[in-house]
Amino acid sequence: MSAERARLEELALAAIAAARETAELARVEREFLGKEGAVGKLLASIRDVPPDERKAFGHGANELKRAIETALAARRAMLERERLAAERSAEDFDPSLPARALAHGSLHPLTHVVRRLEEIFSSMGYAILDGPEVELDYYNFEALNIPKDHPAREMHDTFWCDREQKLLLRTHTSPVQLRALERMRPPFRAIVPGRCFRNETTDASHEHTFHQMEGLVVGEDITVGHLIGTMKTFLREVFRRELEVRLRPGYFPFVEPGFELDVRCPFCERGCSVCKRSTWIELCPCGMVHPKVLRYGGVDPERYTGFAFGLGLSRLVMLRYGIDDIRLLMGADVRFLEQF
Ligand code: DAH
Repeated sequence: MSAERARLEELALAAIAAARETAELARVEREFLGKEGAVGKLLASIRDVPPDERKAFGHGANELKRAIETALAARRAMLERERLAAERSAEDFDPSLPARALAHGSLHPLTHVVRRLEEIFSSMGYAILDGPEVELDYYNFEALNIPKDHPAREMHDTFWCDREQKLLLRTHTSPVQLRALERMRPPFRAIVPGRCFRNETTDASHEHTFHQMEGLVVGEDITVGHLIGTMKTFLREVFRRELEVRLRPGYFPFVEPGFELDVRCPFCERGCSVCKRSTWIELCPCGMVHPKVLRYGGVDPERYTGFAFGLGLSRLVMLRYGIDDIRLLMGADVRFLEQF
C-alpha cells in the first residue's frame, strides 16, 4: 500500500506543479480525487486488504487525499496571484500612485441663495409657494390689473405658447400672488422663488431665463412700515449687517402705491462699479397690493391690505458672489459652477 500511495502522491504533485491554468488544475483534481479518480479506486480496494490492516490502509489513503488537496489549493492560489500580477503589469498598474479624485457636484449659487432666503423668510412665518411656469394670461396679466392693450404688457416681452394667446411662459413670479390669494385665507405671508422667462436679446444683464422671488403679505392693517421693516430684516440676514434702504416711487399696475426699494451699496462707501458710483443699488420693486388685485383674488379690500415685492433673485445672486454676467447663471459651464 505505501508504495502505491507514494507513487500516486508523486504523480499527483508533479501534475499539480506542471499545471499552468486553473482549468488544468481542475482536470488533475478530477483525475485523482474525483468519483472515478485514482484515490477513490485506492480506497475502494480496501475490500481486498486483510481486516487487521484496513485501519492503517484507510488512514494512509486519507493522508494521500489531504496532501493532494493541500497542493491543489496552494497551486491555485499561486496561479491566481500570477494572473493578478500579469493583469496589473499589463495596464501599468502602479500601486504607489495617489488615487484619482472623485468628481463631485456642488450646489448652484442660485440654490445657495434661495435656500438661505427660504430659511430667513420661514423664520418670519412665511409659507414657501410654487406656481406653474406655463401660466395663463389671466394670472400673468389680467388679474394683476394689466388688461389687454395695457402699455405695461410691452415691458414684458412674452413667450407665447399658443396662438390664441391664452398660455404663456410666466414673465414674473407675480401671478402666484393671485393663486395664493385664491387658495389661502388672510392673514398669510408667502414667498415664491421661481424661474421666469422673457423674450429678450441677451447680454451681460439680460437673460431670457431668470429668477425672481415674489413676496406677499396680506392681513388687517398691513402698512408700508411692515414692508420696510421686512426688507431691512431680510437684508440684515443676507449681508450680515444693517444696511440703509430707501423707497422711490415706482409704477406697477398691481400695486398702489408702488415703489422701487434701493439698498445702500454693501461694497463701498463712495461709489464703485457695482452701484455705478451712486452708492445705491436698485434691489426690489414693491408696493401695497392694489385693491383690484385683492378683489380678483376673492379678498375684501375694505377689510384687508397687503404688501408685495418682486426680488430679482438672479441679481441678488450676482451681488452676493460678485458675478458680472447674468448669462453665467443658466449657462451650464462647469468651470463656473464648480466654484461654488
Ligand atoms: N413682477 C414685477 C416685474 O417683474 C416686479 C414687481 C413689482 C413685483 C412690484 C411685485 C411688486 O410684487 O409689488 O416686473
